[in-house]
Amino acid sequence: MISRMPWWIRVPLLFFAIWILLEYFVDTSGKPAVMEYPVTLFFLLLALVLLIAIEAIVAAVENVMFRSLSPEAQERYLANKNKKREWKWGKDMYKRLTRSRSIEREGEIILDHNYDGIRELDNVLPPWWVGLFYATIVFGAVYLVRFHILDDYTQAEEYEMEVAEARLAIEEYKKTAKDLVDVNTVVVLTDAGDLAAGKAIFETNCVVCHMADGGGGIGPNLTDDYWILGGGIKNVFRTISEGGRDGKGMVAWKTSLKPAEMAQVSSYVLQFQGTTAANPKAPEGEIWIDPDAPAPAEVQADSTATESEQWDPDSYSGETNTDWEGESSSTESDN
Ligand code: HEC
Repeated sequence: MISRMPWWIRVPLLFFAIWILLEYFVDTSGKPAVMEYPVTLFFLLLALVLLIAIEAIVAAVENVMFRSLSPEAQERYLANKNKKREWKWGKDMYKRLTRSRSIEREGEIILDHNYDGIRELDNVLPPWWVGLFYATIVFGAVYLVRFHILDDYTQAEEYEMEVAEARLAIEEYKKTAKDLVDVNTVVVLTDAGDLAAGKAIFETNCVVCHMADGGGGIGPNLTDDYWILGGGIKNVFRTISEGGRDGKGMVAWKTSLKPAEMAQVSSYVLQFQGTTAANPKAPEGEIWIDPDAPAPAEVQADSTATESEQWDPDSYSGETNTDWEGESSSTESDN
C-alpha cells in the first residue's frame, strides 16, 4: 500500500509517523519532546534527509532498471504499474451484505404495476439488515432471561458496583499523584528527599520572616510548642496554604507552591520542633497538643481546654472556615 502512493505523500507520512513515535517514547511529562530536548530536532532532520535520500535512490535504481528492459518488457512493466488497484475482497463483501441489483439488471426484479410511471423493484432485504435484526432478537432473549427471570443484578446494584470500582481507582491514583494532597490527607513526610525539598523551599521563601533556624522575626517562632494557628501537620499545612490572619504578613502560599511542595515544607517546618534557635522569638499563641496523640491523663484534661481556646473565629477576618480539623472546602477546590 505504502509503495503505491506518490512519494510526496509517502515521505511526509513516514516523517510524521517517526515524529509521533518519538513523542511517544521520549518521556517529557506533557511538553513536546522537540521543545524539551532540541537534540531530537536534529534526529528528526536526519530522519527526513534519510527518507528523501532513500526515495531518490529507489527512483534512480528503478530508472536504470527500466532502461535495461527490452521494449515489450518495458510496456508490461508500465501496464502493471498503472493497473488500478482494486479492493476485491471489500467489493465482494459489500455485494454479499447488500445483495443489491445493479442498474443494468434491475429489469429482472421490477414488479408489474405502474402508478403514473412510478414502478417498484422487488429487492430482497439486505443481509446486513436481516443479520442485525436476528442479533437484536437474540440479545432480547438473553436479556429477558438474565434480568427478568434469573434477576442477575438490578440497575441500582450495577451503579453501586461501578462507584465502588471508581473509588478504588481514585485511591490508587491518589497514592501515585503527590499533588493531590490537601489539608485532609496530608501526612508528615519523613523521606529525606522530601525534607531536603522542603528545606530548599523554606530557604527561598520563608527565611526572611521565620529565620533559617525557625527562630522567628516578622513571623513567629517555629521551634517552640506554641502555635498561633495550631500545630501538627494539618494545621501547619493549612496555615501555609491559606495564610495567617489578615494583615499579619503570612500570605496564602497555595498560589505559588504546589500542594506537594506545601506538604514538603510543612514537614520541614515541623522538624524545628524541639530545636533551639540562635535568636528565638518569644512564644506566641498557645501550646498545641495533638488531639490524636495518646497523652497522659492529666495532660489530656488540659488539652481539651487549650484546644477550645486555640481558635477564635472572631479574630480571624479571612475566610470564615472554623472547622479546624479538616474538611476545608477552600483547599479542596484547589486541587
Ligand atoms: C512576610 C513574612 C513571612 C513569610 C515570607 C512567611 N511567613 Fe509564615 N508567618 C508570618 C507571620 C507574620 C505569621 C503569623 C501569622 C498570624 O499571626 O496569623 C506566620 C505564621 C506562620 C506559621 C504558623 C505559626 C503559628 O504559630 O501558628 C507557619 C507554620 C508559617 N508561618 C510557615 C511559613 C512558611 C513555610 C513560609 C514559606 C513558604 C512562610 N511562613 C513565609 C510571616 C511570614
